[in-house]
Amino acid sequence: STIPKYVTELVIPPAIPQARRPEGPGIGAMDTYVIGVRQFAQQVLPPPLPPTTVWGYGSLDDERTFHYPSFTIEATADRPVRVTWVNDLVDGAGRFRPHLLAVDPTLHWANPPGGRTGRDSRPVFTSTPGVYTGPVPIVTHLHGGHSPEESDGYTEAWYLPRANDIPSGFGTVGSFYDEFREKSAREHGVEWEPGTATSHYANDQRATTLWFHDHALGMTRLNVYSGLAGFYLLRDGECDLPEGVLPGPAPAVGDPPGTRYHEIPLAIQDRSFHSDGSLFYPASREFFDGFAGPYLPATDVSPVWNPEFFADTMVVNGRTWPKLTVEPRRYRLRLLNGCNARFLILKIADSPAARPARSALPFWQIGSDGGFLPAPVRLERLLLANAERADVVVDFTGIPEGTELYLVNEGADQPFGRGEPGVDFPVADPATTGQVMKFVVGPAASRDRSVPPDRLRLPGRRPLGRAGVTRRLSLNEVTSGNPQVPPDSPVHTLLGTLDSAGRPAPLGWADPVTENPRLNATEIWELHNFTEDAHPIHIHQVAFEVVNRQPFDGSPVPPESWERGAKDTVIAYPGEITRVKARFDLPGRFVWHCHLAEHEDNEMMRPFHVGGAGR
Ligand code: C2O
Ligand code: CU
Repeated sequence: STIPKYVTELVIPPAIPQARRPEGPGIGAMDTYVIGVRQFAQQVLPPPLPPTTVWGYGSLDDERTFHYPSFTIEATADRPVRVTWVNDLVDGAGRFRPHLLAVDPTLHWANPPGGRTGRDSRPVFTSTPGVYTGPVPIVTHLHGGHSPEESDGYTEAWYLPRANDIPSGFGTVGSFYDEFREKSAREHGVEWEPGTATSHYANDQRATTLWFHDHALGMTRLNVYSGLAGFYLLRDGECDLPEGVLPGPAPAVGDPPGTRYHEIPLAIQDRSFHSDGSLFYPASREFFDGFAGPYLPATDVSPVWNPEFFADTMVVNGRTWPKLTVEPRRYRLRLLNGCNARFLILKIADSPAARPARSALPFWQIGSDGGFLPAPVRLERLLLANAERADVVVDFTGIPEGTELYLVNEGADQPFGRGEPGVDFPVADPATTGQVMKFVVGPAASRDRSVPPDRLRLPGRRPLGRAGVTRRLSLNEVTSGNPQVPPDSPVHTLLGTLDSAGRPAPLGWADPVTENPRLNATEIWELHNFTEDAHPIHIHQVAFEVVNRQPFDGSPVPPESWERGAKDTVIAYPGEITRVKARFDLPGRFVWHCHLAEHEDNEMMRPFHVGGAGR
């Protein structure tokens, strides 16, 4: 790669400012935001390389808050947050901005020209093997949020920007939009303006690292890759630690330059670039397995969609391979794997490209997706699948000034299975995606009053009770009989159930709801992975417990030490049953899906419906 590493400073996204003039019922008792999605140029690559056109979130009150990834929403346990999410993908003349990347019109996707993709409709295919260049649907999901259905960013509750050139006949909102708009007016007294949706987050859950990202049907991989993601840090309450115990604080907008932060969110993403600085994402399946079309309705082989995409640079908080000067003291890192398809295996090493990487500085994981672990876990390497978060304390105390340390990645440049990096799968290229960022130890500038990680006592969690229902669910990759497509190359990735003989029964997005827990039911979901790949499976609404994993022909194995807190995303390995337990205490329509963004976009996502048979 010709991109120099470790020349740009890490950006630490500050808190996004609240709305200046909030209005509405109960407004004094909540935090209020108006957050737009816009297109802008950002120096993702180090100068003098050209800037990159990206999408990002920002406060509509302040142009300077637009950034990829988003500035952070700072939330407080049990204090509601209201966000009006605005689709502002329009240019200065009010015309819609087309997508930065190739939108595949042959998937079951949001599909504005096809009208509403109704809940009962079959997949909407066009026979055009081209790409969609119309106005872009968005819908924002708070990942890990205990959110009511109308606020959860349901994948079919998308909406177009308010632009003056939307072609006539286009559906401007998805099938669930109107229902959720009416529900929001009823329940929260909020009217949604065209081109917007307002979410209410009660924050009645454990303090933890959440994140928000786009979730539009069949195009999440493209919208997130373009930049639509950000952190949402939920603090306080009985499930947090008092201030000062952990390294802090996090930055706020307007903090004077030079303010030092000892709590740092790190969104790690892989991206590829054209030489003009623009984002590269494959526009044809030819990139993946040579299949160049045409579109084949008979086998549903899309010539555009790629089953996975592994990019060739590492981007942290919107900069390629950044560096950060740290003090010789403790830091709290909130790590997010924000890659579309790449699993990460992170280590802190003293040499950037030596493989296997020697861990030079073990660290302590104190939390995961759903808040604190029962106890800190000492780790030399951290496995993080897509959408998983790790709350980690790194202790640079006593490390001599001038020492350089590297956050490296030994995950695979391909779909991930089980096993040892370098033995069971090839590790990421040590020269590129095998490196993430650099820490340089600088002088001490502040006294460290935080508690050493091995002495931390973490707030406990009441375990879920007995499960009344166990569901057997399948993970599937469907191949094609078409001789132009390699025989082992997936053309569809699907969830589903099992038949009475224990065989997989794959289901598409539009098939009737099969997962319909009763309200307040505690259930075990068994994820039977019939594919060759590990899949990070995410269930909306709930914080689940990982019960165990069981090879198809073996006995159950307890969860890993770092999986013993609440989770919302879990790795389901090939040839194994992964069991999770959850309590479903919010009624309505939600989704569960694989969080490999390419997979979820080609129907590895299913609706579930709590309290009722589904609609
Ligand atoms: Cu992180 Cu359904 O998403
Ligand atoms: Cu998957």
